[in-house]
Amino acid sequence: MTTERDPLSTNIRALGSTLGRVMTDQSGARALELEEEVRRIAKELRASPSDALAARLAAMIAGLPVGELHGLVKAFTLYFGLVNLAEGVERLRVLSVRDRQRYPAPRTEGIAEAVAALRSHAVAAEDIQAWLDHALIMPVLTAHPTESRRRTSLNKLRRIFDTLIELTMRTAPMLPHEQVAAITQIEREIVGLWQSDDVRIEKPSVLDEVENGLFYFQRVLWDLLPQIDRELEMALAEHYPEHSWRMSPLLRFGSWMGGDRDGNPFVTPEVTVDTVRLMRATMLRHLIESMAGLHTDLSQSRQQVPVSAALLARIEHYSAMFPEAAAAISKHHAREPYRRLVQLIRARLERTLHHTLHHELRWGQDPPPLPQPDVYFRSEELLADLQLMRESLLLGGGALVADGLLRDLISKVAIFRLNTATLDIRQHSGRHLSALAELLAAAGVCADYAGLDEPARIALLSAEISSPRPLCETRLSNYSQETAETVQTFRAVAALLEQIDPQLIENYIISMTTSVSDMLAVLLLCREVGMYEPGQLSLLNVVPLFETGEDLAHAPLLMEACLSMPAYREHLRLRGDVQEIMLGYSDSNKEGGFASANWALYRAQVELDAVAERHGVRLRLFHGRGGAVGRGGGPAGEAILSQPPGTLNGQIKMTDQGEMISDRYLDPRTAHRHLEQVVNAVLRAGFPETLKLPDPSWTAAMEQIAATARAAYRGLIYDNPEFLTYFREATPVTEISRLRIGSRPASRRNSARIEDLRAIPWVFSWMQSRHTIPGWFGLGSALADFVGNELQIADFRLQIEAAADAHNLQSAICNLQLLRTMYRQWPFFTTLLDNAQMIMAKADMGIARQYAGLVDDQELAGRVFAQIEAEFARTRRMICAVAQVDEILGAAPVLQRAIHQRNPYVDPLSYIQLELLQRLRGEVEPDEQERIETAVLMSINGIAAGLKNTG
Ligand code: PGA
Repeated sequence: MTTERDPLSTNIRALGSTLGRVMTDQSGARALELEEEVRRIAKELRASPSDALAARLAAMIAGLPVGELHGLVKAFTLYFGLVNLAEGVERLRVLSVRDRQRYPAPRTEGIAEAVAALRSHAVAAEDIQAWLDHALIMPVLTAHPTESRRRTSLNKLRRIFDTLIELTMRTAPMLPHEQVAAITQIEREIVGLWQSDDVRIEKPSVLDEVENGLFYFQRVLWDLLPQIDRELEMALAEHYPEHSWRMSPLLRFGSWMGGDRDGNPFVTPEVTVDTVRLMRATMLRHLIESMAGLHTDLSQSRQQVPVSAALLARIEHYSAMFPEAAAAISKHHAREPYRRLVQLIRARLERTLHHTLHHELRWGQDPPPLPQPDVYFRSEELLADLQLMRESLLLGGGALVADGLLRDLISKVAIFRLNTATLDIRQHSGRHLSALAELLAAAGVCADYAGLDEPARIALLSAEISSPRPLCETRLSNYSQETAETVQTFRAVAALLEQIDPQLIENYIISMTTSVSDMLAVLLLCREVGMYEPGQLSLLNVVPLFETGEDLAHAPLLMEACLSMPAYREHLRLRGDVQEIMLGYSDSNKEGGFASANWALYRAQVELDAVAERHGVRLRLFHGRGGAVGRGGGPAGEAILSQPPGTLNGQIKMTDQGEMISDRYLDPRTAHRHLEQVVNAVLRAGFPETLKLPDPSWTAAMEQIAATARAAYRGLIYDNPEFLTYFREATPVTEISRLRIGSRPASRRNSARIEDLRAIPWVFSWMQSRHTIPGWFGLGSALADFVGNELQIADFRLQIEAAADAHNLQSAICNLQLLRTMYRQWPFFTTLLDNAQMIMAKADMGIARQYAGLVDDQELAGRVFAQIEAEFARTRRMICAVAQVDEILGAAPVLQRAIHQRNPYVDPLSYIQLELLQRLRGEVEPDEQERIETAVLMSINGIAAGLKNTG
């Protein structure tokens, strides 16, 4: 399947013809012929676009029954699934070839390279050590509904990937029979994919989503993260041999699945409790299984080596605690203290598992039903047992043994603790407001809390926070269902932390935080359930989420006020003076457009950092990004390096969502590459020595660009009364809202307003209809305005025509030069323009025009589309002039080629989707409707796979 020359094309061709064979076998020669014919016309159409040919393709598709359209969609979708795999394999292959060529230089964007860079910039070991002591990189898996594929399909694709890796990357060639077996295996999986349903029949439940997330830990992350820690330690030891390093986990994972209840009514307090039990039980079972390996490994005998007294004492102690387990240890192992301890630890883990699954949580019971000493409550307790073994091994000259399985297990427990990942809770600020209003009224404290102005709310909340009197009745049945649920959530979290594990949940995130009182409201609810006791303890971080342009601009002032408030500052002191702040990329983008949102986020980070520093608080920024550019997506390493210099103080969180989770973590090699790039970027961004501050003229320019871009974007989206109709009719937003790909609804409210629509269906619809507006609209106008309108750019080449006034010409040239310098030297601006280019290359105005054809009022559609098309052309011209390229992505030929090669295959899917949407929106029998809907869903999958972005 592979040859020495161009293994990627060879693999794609081979996979394509295998798919063709499977299609013929399964659905007959006609299916393949049809697919080939459609593909041929689409290719021709790309090569020489013509209305007549487009009409021919559309007519041909219109003449096909749903069944045949379904088959076509399936064929193209599967094809993209396979091409994506081949490209993934190629990335790894090229990486490994380059590693060999570069040797002994370290791998580009790897961990060792970052450490070497620190050394070459003369960063002191002590500074790195201080950084490491508090550093944290936390990707957070969320259940954001953009993974449109089923797990069944993902698993089959993964198996094909593994086999392809075997075929492509083996150093010794395969024997003929091995090759036949591998190719048969691939064909078998493709048949399986062909014969399975591609879309989910039902929406997943929240716990399905949790299990889905856990799958990546089980398959990849549990083993990979200790390895990454090891690599970091080795790199440090190599480049700073004189320092003795104190290591703690740098990378840990968080999760929102089962904790994020904002707009998802299915995430109830009971579901959160079940989630936590499931995550912890999964981890504990894994640890129990790991004990078997340790048992095999640690056969050291007391007859041969000395053993520490502390270890022997622990065996004594546990033997009394678990007499049955002690009695079951075979005589054979009587002289092998490590094995004995391993068996006893196992007994304690089993007891812990039982407690995790069956303990009946009771909030507010006096005395509280605290866990018994025979269960592990905190991960440190298990770590202490493992460390004891390690120290004893070192004492007996067993350093190498201690550095094997045992060390990885220690690292695993330090990283994943006893619960796999920290579960974050998220709720909308409005829910806290209404709950508090009800509680305060019922307690006779304030009849109309919601009617108070902000200073009065703050005064009231501050007083309540320091008052020992409870607000809320023990029984919740007198409150509205929503209020009871809000309070119950806090009680459930309190009981979990008290009775199962204090490390399960650390953060409470408040969506749409707009005021100090939003923060204090959560603190008061924490106090209400005993999670905050002024002067004593505070169990949760209160994390604001800022997600509109206005809120981002206001965020520094809000945090300044918060941090100046004794009630809040006291809580933060109890949390170790670390303030986490979440930044929402999607909603800010939907509200203000791509360029302005990115700038608002940048500015907010700089200012928040200054506020935190003034108050002696460490800032942890949590970036809420999606996969698509319009939701803050783009290459992870570049995203980190384009943050404002100095704002990354070693602690960073970022969401990993939807299709990005499988893209990044389904395969261990791909996951390793992704995570090492993240570590590399965070290390480099953590030390100002390696960074350059932006010139004030750059930030001033960006200020102006952001304002103009925002005005242009809002002019179309919110100020043009015709736009909403265009959006509703020219994109598949209605159909996307019915997708069964996530547990939560598409809108927070039942309304048609763009403001109320969640960002995901918004971006998703523009992606599918190939406009990709959220990734670029407004940028072109802003760049053109900044350079000056008298500058004429034609034919992708800069031509400055005779200007009426020499001064204007001079300033236009200067401004263009300034933008070019910014693009070359300022990672923020480079990333901004590069991401816009990437998303524009996936747009297609020809296809978008066809979607405009879906709008009833064609005159309206014509007017709106003309605006979009003109801005697209302008943006393209301006980016080319600034980036000094002839076409979009001119400086990234590999990506450009990949996108261009895919387009002729995506086009048929777009044409089919258009046809299906038309049918669906017309008169259809209910039976037919379901079949069409399924085919639409599949076409959505296919286009997402083709464009490598869902939404
Ligand atoms: P949210 O996320 O709607 O859950 O805030 C938006 C997104 O991820 O695009």
